[in-house]
Amino acid sequence: NSIKIFSPATVANVSCGYDAMGFSMEALGDEMIFTKTKEKSVIISKIEGADLPFEANKNVVGVVAQHMLNDSKADFGLDIQIFKKFKPGSGLGSSAASASGTAFAINTLLNGKYSNLELTKFAMQGEVTACGSAIADNVAAAIYGGFILVRSYEPLDIIGIPTPSKLVATVIHPQIEIKTEAARKVVPQNIPVKTAISQWANVGGLVSGLYAEDFDLIGRSLVDLVAEPNRKKLIPYFDEVKEAAISNGALGAGISGSGPSIFALSKGKQTANKVAEAMNTVYKNSGIDYSIYVSNIS
Ligand code: HSE
Repeated sequence: NSIKIFSPATVANVSCGYDAMGFSMEALGDEMIFTKTKEKSVIISKIEGADLPFEANKNVVGVVAQHMLNDSKADFGLDIQIFKKFKPGSGLGSSAASASGTAFAINTLLNGKYSNLELTKFAMQGEVTACGSAIADNVAAAIYGGFILVRSYEPLDIIGIPTPSKLVATVIHPQIEIKTEAARKVVPQNIPVKTAISQWANVGGLVSGLYAEDFDLIGRSLVDLVAEPNRKKLIPYFDEVKEAAISNGALGAGISGSGPSIFALSKGKQTANKVAEAMNTVYKNSGIDYSIYVSNIS
């Protein structure tokens, strides 16, 4: 009647795949406890670690829960406790962790009634509440695990992509808040075909590199000509962090989701730790608070 779940942080876009690619991190995520109640309502009784609304219709957790209870005609309500381990506005899929964790937990309480694709659709309704757009990259990564590709939004088509076990993520999260909604406004609505060609070729390269465990190809493909050129201006020391990561052995680096977090991918934990040190060196005298994570991808 009660379930405690872990819901991972996720890196969306992965440089070349704006709104189309993402991966989930093993080492960072929220915890939530869902308890069935007789009363058929959704009550958020505890929120720790972030300043988020308790009203169910204003919190992505409540929104997703209510949709699922309605859709499944459940004969129970829910008491929900939320323990946020990373902040909203981090670029690490905070709202997505809340939304996808909720979808996963309720599905378990419903004995696995829904597929991962259906759970992704429920969780996307939470993303609308959080940032005004039904984006799938973070929520699908959290639900499917590992790397995913959103091949199509209409109809929704999510492809799980194998992750080389040696691939390790390093992420720095400067504690400044960038709202996804605002960061989406600086991404151009129109791009030259020449730019589009480079971008979709890199997505192909990244997917091939992940399948073939070709680490150099993965690195060569971590290029973003669409979102990064404008968004990086919102992130202090972005170029310095990227350069430090790559010169210390990272395969590539870029903005995590809509920022301000910056991710790097490396072959092996040793290199990923060295990259973490290099990121730390860039930020340590900046006067900005930050956290650094090294994580497997699963
Ligand atoms: N793909 C999204 C963006 C991720 O970059 O705006 C944030 O949900």
